[in-house]
Amino acid sequence: MITEDIKYIGVNDHEIDLFEGQYDVPNGMAYNSYIIFDEKIAVFDTVDKKFGDKWLCNVKETLDGKNPDYLIVSHMEPDHSANIDKFLLAFPKAEVVATGQAFSMMERFFGENYEGRRIIANNGDSLSLGKHNLTFYTAPMVHWPEVMVTYDSFDKVLFSADAFGKFGALDIEEDWACEARRYYFGIVGKYGKQVQMLFEKLDGLDIKTICPLHGPVLSENLGYYLGLYDTWSKYLPEEKGVVICYTSVYGNTKKAVELLAAELREKGCPKVTINDLARCDMAEAIEDAFRYDKIVLATTTYNSEIFPFMHEFITGLVERGFKKRKVGFIENGSWAPQAAKYMRKMFEKTIGLEYCNTVVTILSAVNCETEEKISELAKELI
Ligand code: FEO
Repeated sequence: MITEDIKYIGVNDHEIDLFEGQYDVPNGMAYNSYIIFDEKIAVFDTVDKKFGDKWLCNVKETLDGKNPDYLIVSHMEPDHSANIDKFLLAFPKAEVVATGQAFSMMERFFGENYEGRRIIANNGDSLSLGKHNLTFYTAPMVHWPEVMVTYDSFDKVLFSADAFGKFGALDIEEDWACEARRYYFGIVGKYGKQVQMLFEKLDGLDIKTICPLHGPVLSENLGYYLGLYDTWSKYLPEEKGVVICYTSVYGNTKKAVELLAAELREKGCPKVTINDLARCDMAEAIEDAFRYDKIVLATTTYNSEIFPFMHEFITGLVERGFKKRKVGFIENGSWAPQAAKYMRKMFEKTIGLEYCNTVVTILSAVNCETEEKISELAKELI
């Protein structure tokens, strides 16, 4: 129970291997769904297709013989929308409330736009359930263009769609920020500007509880969660520290990375994190890159470019609007090192990055000269 009138009816998914076909979710995933009981009854969102029957059971059990009046569709991504048809068949008098774009997507997904059973919600429109008055705010690109969030002024609850969500099922205890940050930068990170635009729309609302489509309901210390979202969506570093992301073929680049990390720690760098891009979770490395204020990229020259995992990583940063950080480079190349030049070129359209003057070049293996350059780079980063 979230409030006297609002109940949770979502499901946990521990069968999933990759969320959205790419994100590792060792602790599963939650697809959240809610019901508001009032003179009229509104259900918020469905769940992933695999859990349609279980979810419909939750809905019926919670309704306890009552009939829902509305299905409110916040987001059309199938992890939330897959069971719209199932719901409307089970409750033939219920109407669907969603943005116009969401109805167009329903037609594309299900061949049906529910004409005659649909209420199109525009930004700022309201729907009264009785004492609960719902106001809809469009939230384009947080995370798809059709998204809307809903504010219930009676219980002061924000139904926030994908915003404030995280990886992980709800029957597992884990730190919120770590998996929420990985989720944010993986899924919504490119759309910081749109998150800020949504914040402007919501400015002035008295929010006591946030009900997202993934992750736990947030009802305490909301300033903490709102503050982190504000930092993330403004692309500001959250902490001082250096993240070193590298690839290494025979261990020589790795050795340089380890020397740099040791030197940074010795010089009192508050936090040094290392990611081997060939072996770590790429989404975790992206998360780290956005978390700290400095990053060092170390890789080999490969096929006249750079090692593939580094290519993938930098592409991931650039497409998410990586900025407001200091960047250092370490390159390795036995006969024609050009990885640093190539990495820098990958950021050429990125504004708001500061580059270290020192570039460490390894010619096959670390030697005294390289060690001196590593020290210089460490000094610059401190
Ligand atoms: Fe949880 Fe964008 O879907």
